[in-house]
Amino acid sequence: MSERMTVLVTGGAGYIGSHMVLALLDAGHTPVIIDDFSTGHEKLVPSGVPLFRGNVGDSALVAEICDSHKIDAVAHFAASIVVPESVADPLKYYVNNTVNTTRFIAACVDAGIKRFVFSSTAAVYGNQDVSPINEGANTQPENPYGSSKLMSEMVLRDSAAATDLSYVILRYFNVAGADPQGRSGQLSQPATHLIKIAVEAAIGKRAAMQVYGTDYPTPDGTCIRDYIHVSDLIAAHMAALSYLQKGGASLLANCGYGHGASVRDVLDVVASVAGKPLDVTDAPRRPGDAAVLVADSTKLRSALGWAPRYDDLRQIVSDALAWERNNS
Ligand code: UFG
Repeated sequence: MSERMTVLVTGGAGYIGSHMVLALLDAGHTPVIIDDFSTGHEKLVPSGVPLFRGNVGDSALVAEICDSHKIDAVAHFAASIVVPESVADPLKYYVNNTVNTTRFIAACVDAGIKRFVFSSTAAVYGNQDVSPINEGANTQPENPYGSSKLMSEMVLRDSAAATDLSYVILRYFNVAGADPQGRSGQLSQPATHLIKIAVEAAIGKRAAMQVYGTDYPTPDGTCIRDYIHVSDLIAAHMAALSYLQKGGASLLANCGYGHGASVRDVLDVVASVAGKPLDVTDAPRRPGDAAVLVADSTKLRSALGWAPRYDDLRQIVSDALAWERNNS
C-alpha cells in the first residue's frame, strides 16, 4: 500500500479483527479499534493502539471516533458469529448484526467515510447444487446468522449506490489458525468452531468431542468446509483496502482456497499434528449446517491480486495448536 492510512477496525479486540490490527501495524498504517468486548479480549489489543469501548450501533460514539481520528477507511468485523446460537436466538443476530451494522454504515456515511471493507460469510449461500460456489450463486441462507449478514450486505450495497462510499464485501468461508508469529489467536469461550475445539481436545483442555452429523451426502458423511488461514484472510483485507485506496469500484468476493476438508479430515490432521489420537464420538446433525461450503476464489485472486501463503491444513492446525498451547 502506498499512502499510510488510519483504519477504524470494528471488533479489533476479537479473533479476526486483532489479526487485522497487527497487519495494519506491520504495514505502517494506523489502526483505531472500536469493540464492545462482548467477545473481544484486552489481551489481543497491542499497546498503544487507540481503543474505544462500545458498540458500532452507538452513532454518537462512531461520530466521536471519526471526528477525533482522521479515519481513511473502515474494516467492519464486529458481529455475533455462532451459527447454532443464531438458530436458537435469531433476534440477537438481527439486532447485533443487521441493525447495528445499519446504524454503523449510517454514521460512517455521515462522517464522510469513503472506503468500507465488510466481513460477510459463506453462510449467505446455504446449500448449493454446485461446488465450488462463486459469487453469482443464489443466496439462500440456512440460518439467521447468514440472513443477518446478507441483509447487512444489502444495506451496504444500497448505501454505496446512493453516496460516494465504496466497499469490498468479503464472504469468508471457514477461518481458522492463528498468527504464525504467535501474537494472536482464538480465545473464544466456550469454543464452537471445529479446529479450535479439536486443538483444545488435543491438549487435554477438554476430554472429548463430537462429530455433528455423519449422514451428509459427502464421501465420508461429514460436512465439508473450505478452511482458510486467518493470515491469508487478513491479506485479502489488506488487498481490499489498497484496491479501494486506488479508487477501485465496489466489489464482492469469496475468501477461501477453493478446496474443502471434511470434519473427519480435519480431525485426522489435528491428531497427526498433535501426535495423539482424539477422543471423538459421532453425534446427530447440528441445526443450520450446510453439507458442503467450498469457495470459488477466482475473483479474489483476479480482482485483488490475492494469493494465499498458508494454503495447507497442517499449517493452519499447527498454528492453532501452538496458540492453544501457549494461551490456554
Ligand atoms: N463441528 C463438529 N464438531 C464440533 C464443532 C463443529 O462436528 O465440535 C462441525 C460442524 O457441524 C460443521 C463443521 O464442523 O460441520 C464446521 O463447523 P464450525 O462451527 O467450525 O464452522 P461453521 O461452518 O458452522 O461456521 C463457520 C463460521 C461462520 C461461517 C461459516 C461458513 O463460524 O461464520 O463457517 O462456512 F459463516
